Amino acid sequence: LASISPKGLGPAHMGTAQQHKIKTQISAHFLSLDNCILKNMETALKSLGNEGLFLFSSLDTNNDLYISPEEFKPIAEKLTGIAPVSGTDEEEVPDPNGETLSILAKFQPLLMETMTKSKDGFLGVSHLSLSGLRNWTAPASPVSVMFAQQFKAFLPPKHKVELADPWWIIPSELNIFTGYLPNNRFYPPAPRGKEVIIHKLLSMFHPRPFVKTRFAPQGAVACIQAVADFYYRIAFRIHAEFQLNEPPDFPFWFSPAQFTGYIVLSKDSSHVREFKLFVPNNRSLNVDMEWLYGALESSNMEVDIGYLPQMELESLGPSVPSIIHDENGNVIDSREGDPIQFVFEEIAWQREINWEEAVRKLEIAMYPFKKVSYLPFTRAFERAKSESKLVHSILLWGALDDQSCSGRTLRETVLESSPILAFLNESFISTWSLVKELEDLQDEFNSRLADLHLEKYNFPVEIMICLPNGTVVHHINANYFLDITSMKPEEVESSIFSFSTSFEDPSTATYLQFLKEGLQKAKPFLQT
Ligand SMILES: *[C@@H]1O[C@H](CO)[C@@H](O)[C@H](O)[C@H]1NC(C)=O
Ligand SMILES: *[C@@H]1O[C@H](CO)[C@@H](O)[C@H](O)[C@H]1NC(C)=O
Ligand SMILES: *[C@@H]1O[C@H](CO)[C@@H](O)[C@H](O)[C@H]1NC(C)=O
Ligand SMILES: *[C@@H]1O[C@H](CO)[C@@H](O)[C@H](O)[C@H]1NC(C)=O
Repeated sequence: LASISPKGLGPAHMGTAQQHKIKTQISAHFLSLDNCILKNMETALKSLGNEGLFLFSSLDTNNDLYISPEEFKPIAEKLTGIAPVSGTDEEEVPDPNGETLSILAKFQPLLMETMTKSKDGFLGVSHLSLSGLRNWTAPASPVSVMFAQQFKAFLPPKHKVELADPWWIIPSELNIFTGYLPNNRFYPPAPRGKEVIIHKLLSMFHPRPFVKTRFAPQGAVACIQAVADFYYRIAFRIHAEFQLNEPPDFPFWFSPAQFTGYIVLSKDSSHVREFKLFVPNNRSLNVDMEWLYGALESSNMEVDIGYLPQMELESLGPSVPSIIHDENGNVIDSREGDPIQFVFEEIAWQREINWEEAVRKLEIAMYPFKKVSYLPFTRAFERAKSESKLVHSILLWGALDDQSCSGRTLRETVLESSPILAFLNESFISTWSLVKELEDLQDEFNSRLADLHLEKYNFPVEIMICLPNGTVVHHINANYFLDITSMKPEEVESSIFSFSTSFEDPSTATYLQFLKEGLQKAKPFLQT
């Protein structure tokens, strides 16, 4: 399988739905090859039933139908109440005399009334589904003491020391063959390498953080925001999510839009001056939630989005040595006796970029479709007017450029394909908005613009081409778009297994056609 590399068939060209189809095709293919596994599955189903097999599979991370001691660990911990000392084989043991710092967690629970399903009082939503969410009212550990050296994972790789040049702390592992990671999991896999510190930090909020999200883009990116002789200021963006339920309830996934922040640390990571991590809260919605209604991967899934006012980690001060020597060479334990006043040198930054610029670099690393600027709604129309261009506008229920949304299929496919990027850049001003934000637009002129948009909106995502005065000349619903562009299974099969090199990505072609039709339809208006 690894040797099959169909040209043009990659995550960049294909929606989740399509990837899923292909994945199903491939697994069906391999299942039919391996009747033995299938038979064992049937036997397992017979002995455990649907629900039982579901729980079993959620623990059986390598799908071999056997539970190893490592896979059994979460259950052992739950039943005995004792968490074994975590395996230190992956983790470098920090110098016990190294500097330590305290990290404070601030957390305000999700506002339940911001969820769409709250409108009818969560009618039809089993209260068991929401138990993990309702129960999560405080951070799991409000304060945590950490070694400065543990933050080494945030340092740039040796060859990557250019200002503003992003690198992956945790690379994404999703590709066309993996599709996305399964929903039927309760316990995060043991973190490895650089995942360890991120897992540890996110565990301060909730005991079950998954440092790798089920959907792309996964992972964590960082870039140097400022450089001094001995220090870096590093900006980062992490995509991670939490599993809020435990058996016997069904999984409930809580995916904040993103975790971003910065760290100021010495180039040898012996000292951390400042650390901050937060979920941005300046949009009206910032969390995606998905929960299952059954014991199978194909079970019904509910989706909703909501607003989380605060989820932050902050250092209480610079890291300090735990052991110091006085002028006579005597050892003083700084954790005992009178508090010691430390004086920290000023950091003189030699070169830096501002926070907005760093944020943009990280965003483009996660979302290549952002190589084209997406302006705020009203700015886009002003710009279109001054440049006599059309507006390419995407109106969605959830955000397009974070993990809290339904727009992922679009941005992972057509919006980042190079012909579309080039065409949008040349002929359109682009914008995307949340339905809720347009509904909230107050002043007279802008609310008229918004109304013209909302009139044409259909759930969940509508793509529109507009004149600078707001008249919508062409529009298409994203679900309809995905329906007409998704490949038939026979086509997928033949294009994968015939090693086709002339594979034409139907969604890019269709989107280009849609944009061109928009230009055509706008012509009569612009020729006056
Ligand atoms: C609710 O949260 C507490 C701690 O915050 C935990 O001990 C308990 O198991 C949780 N209950 C449920 C039903 O999740
Ligand atoms: C939210 O804040 C960030 C900076 O912290 C800013 O770049 C962004 O434009 C803001 N978004 C909105 C919708 O206000
Ligand atoms: C967009 O166009 C400008 C100038 O026409 C060019 O400098 C820039 O590289 C283009 N960007 C993309 C993503 O094509
Ligand atoms: C926008 O301009 C076009 C042509 O200039 C016109 O036909 C249309 O009615 C205008 N729309 C609005 C909402 O003013």
